[in-house]
Amino acid sequence: MSHVPVLLSEVLGVLSPKDGERCLDCTFGGGGHTRALLDASDCCVSAIDRDPDAEARAAPLKEEYGNRFDFSICRFSEIADKFAECRRFDVVLFDFGISSFQVDECDRGFSFSKDAPLDMRMSKSGASARDVVNSFAEGELADIIWTYGEEHASRKIAAAIVAARKEGTIETTVQLADIVRKSVGFGTTNKKYSKLDAATKTFQALRIFVNDELREISDALAQLPQILNDGARVAMISFHALEGRVVKNWAAANKPHFSPINKNVIKPSLAEIRKNPRSRSAVLRSFAYNDRGDVAVGGGA
Ligand SMILES: C[S@@+](CC[C@H](N)C(=O)[O-])C[C@H]1O[C@@H](n2cnc3c(N)ncnc32)[C@H](O)[C@@H]1O
Repeated sequence: MSHVPVLLSEVLGVLSPKDGERCLDCTFGGGGHTRALLDASDCCVSAIDRDPDAEARAAPLKEEYGNRFDFSICRFSEIADKFAECRRFDVVLFDFGISSFQVDECDRGFSFSKDAPLDMRMSKSGASARDVVNSFAEGELADIIWTYGEEHASRKIAAAIVAARKEGTIETTVQLADIVRKSVGFGTTNKKYSKLDAATKTFQALRIFVNDELREISDALAQLPQILNDGARVAMISFHALEGRVVKNWAAANKPHFSPINKNVIKPSLAEIRKNPRSRSAVLRSFAYNDRGDVAVGGGA
């Protein structure tokens, strides 16, 4: 099992770490981007991840790079608390979403391609997808599926979930996927997304809700000025429109301090998508930080 880092050369291109600079990788995952930053120059990298499983994957990098690298279990919405007092950064990276480790490990319950307990908690703590699906009111479930999945059949799906609960607790990913598929008819929920399994958007919605993913992003972005050096570069890789919207809104509201490095968003090449299909929806945005807020603003990323 491994995770192939997406848009690797493009990320290095916009972040361009220099000797002696400090970098923060907010989404360590399997450490692919962290390693590339460490190899690109004689910089230091602090990495965080909310998933306790990431710690074991960080250990070999500690061995290899010594005190140029440190790792902590931490949510990126806590970066100011963790670093503002002690450290400022020249480079910050966010590679949102989940890693291949999380998708591929059966017992994490992120994917319905294998039967697993309905969990979906990146931090392995707090309420799970199972708790949400089995205890929330029909209207609340419909709102979650609509808001975080942009699923047009959200009401139908929520009604089917609540009806299925009368037969017993919904315990597994495959059980839930079948309930969703049956509620909308087996194929897809929308012609525009004809390749999507009917359960995809409901699973995305539950994952985002369970991990409070959009608030995590907006809280972290709001804290950036507290941990950045003047001239710092920040890159964000998003994988769906909801993540992208949070970044775009933040960028629009913070123009004097953050100017786009790349005029347009950067997407993976066909060659990358062929090699790593999981990269297909990746979108890279990057910004340069100006402490005084007097940048000439350009670009539209
Ligand atoms: C797409 S993966 C990153 C992969 C990584 N760039 C690599 O090259 O291996 C996203 C990672 O971010 C972590 N993550 C997601 N939301 C987080 C948050 N709010 N705080 C900290 N880590 C988070 C996930 O647990 C996951 O390991």
